[in-house]
Order: sequence, then C-alpha cells, then structure tokens
Amino acid sequence: MSKTILIIGACGQIGTELTHALRKKFGSEKVVASDIREGNDALMNSGPFEILDATDYDAMEEIVAYWEIDEVYLMAAMLSATAEKFPMRAWNLNMNSLFNVLNLAKERKIEKVFWPSSIAVFGPHTPKTNTAQQTIMEPSTVYGISKQSGERWCEYYHEKFGVDVRSLRYPGLISWKTMPGGGTTDYAVEIYHEAITNGTYSCFLNADTSLPMMYMDDAIRATLLLMESDAANLKIRSSYNLAAMSFTPTEIAASIQKKIPNFEIDYTIDFRQAIADSWPNSIDDTNAQEDWGWKAEFDLEKTTNEMLNNLRATL
Ligand code: SER
Repeated sequence: MSKTILIIGACGQIGTELTHALRKKFGSEKVVASDIREGNDALMNSGPFEILDATDYDAMEEIVAYWEIDEVYLMAAMLSATAEKFPMRAWNLNMNSLFNVLNLAKERKIEKVFWPSSIAVFGPHTPKTNTAQQTIMEPSTVYGISKQSGERWCEYYHEKFGVDVRSLRYPGLISWKTMPGGGTTDYAVEIYHEAITNGTYSCFLNADTSLPMMYMDDAIRATLLLMESDAANLKIRSSYNLAAMSFTPTEIAASIQKKIPNFEIDYTIDFRQAIADSWPNSIDDTNAQEDWGWKAEFDLEKTTNEMLNNLRATL
C-alpha cells in the first residue's frame, strides 16, 4: 500500500506548492493538507484538508490516526521578521510544533518527518562567503535561535530514538503562487509584484545586501529528492546546507530592468536590515551534492523570467 502524507502549514508559501507537488506525485487522496486557516481555492479543492493548530499534540495525533499518516512535512513556522516582534509566540510555535511531530515519530505513530531549517541558523560571527555546513553559528534572531535549536533536536531524536527526520536549510525562497509572510527575504518576491503593478519598488534592505536565494521549483525538487533518498546516504540529520544563487537588491533590480526597462528601485531601510546583515552572503552545499545528488537549476535570470511571466498572467 502506498504511503499517506500530512502537510502541516499547507497554506503558506512553501506548503501550498509542496501540497500540489506531493498530490501530483502520490495522488490527491494520499496527501492531507492542514493549516490553522483555510488556503486558496486551488489548494482547498485539490484534496483532503484539516484545520490543525500545530502546537496541539492531541489534535495532531488524532488526525494522524484518522488518516493513517506515514509521513509528515511540518511547514508551519513564524518567520524571521515577525518573530522579532513576537519572540515568545515564535518560540512556542516553532519549537512545540517540532516536538509534537518528533514525538509522534518517536512513538512510531509516523515513519518519516520533513522539517525545514534556514540560513537563519547562521549568525554575525559566521564566515559569510560560501558558508560551510559546519562552522560558527551563534544565530542572533529569535527565528534563527529556534531553527538552530530545532536542528539540534532533530539530530538528537535521530541518534537516540532512531527517528527518520530530514531537513534542509532553505535560503530565501522566491515564488509567484503564494506570498511569503513575515520573512526578511520577502523583498525578493514583493519586488516582482511591484515591478508589474507599479513599475517601482521601495526596498527595505540596502542596495548591496547579498543573500542566498532559491526559486521555489528548486526548493520543492530538493525537498522531494531528500525525502526519497536512501536513509543510508544521509550523513547529516541536523539539516543540510542548500544553495542555488545569491544576489543583492541592485542585482535583482537590474535583472528586472532587462525585461521592464523603466522599472525603478529606491530604498527605505528598516529593522530587517540588521537581520539580513547577520546572515551569510552565499552557501556551500557540497554535502547535499555528494550525499543525495543535489544540483540547482534556476539562476537569477531564469527566476526573473519565470516570475514576470507567471505574475503577468495572474495579477
Ligand atoms: N526566508 C526566511 C526569512 O526571511 C528565512 O528562512 O525569514
């Protein structure tokens, strides 16, 4: 019998596309989407859906039992910018949701877990260029502290309890189907929307702030690839570095100007600059390449083409 999958946080930026990708691959009825609120029509109409608060262990256990779930993808989280405003709520959501899923796996109620980490696990003392898998970390944001702690717990549950948990340190993710919410890398999505609707964008990060980024199709492909990989090949059970491209606001603006020559960018810097300044400029993902054959396909130019073409058709 084929496996049954639960996605928690299915209505968010990653969850929405992950749900569609998993439904396409394994069949709609095999993939249960859940979130604290309902999602867009395309998501709600494409297969089973449950309202679930990821911090509620009993509710999660009930859904897992009812649908006979084998695998959980835990995508619910409070992102970096919002977490600075609500530190305790962020810690509560980001950590307790993870413990709930890890404990279900420890109790053998589910077999496999995917949990996303982030470039936010790195901090101001981390070497910024081609940041290594293992290096100085010391995250200085609430979100980064929660992801760093989560990574330690994932590895611990794997080592002590044999839990099959797999994780990626996603860079900033760029997509057109669902907006990101509350992140520092969100500017790289907003800029495409504003380029089409207004022809101008006011950026909250400095012109020369370089951050690691990835197009959503690559992120989804990496996630499915990691989850399919033979467990024996996975040497890292905290979270894998994952990379595709890095660019600055100046560079993304220039790539948009190739398609929309009159597009203009200006800068109104806010508190998110300090968050971005604490993160790496670029990431070394050699371990992901070697252990499970990762290779990104989308660079900045390809991403800009996809974003502008798809948004033009939908906005
Ligand atoms: N994209 C996330 C954020 O900006 C980082 O994982 O918060």
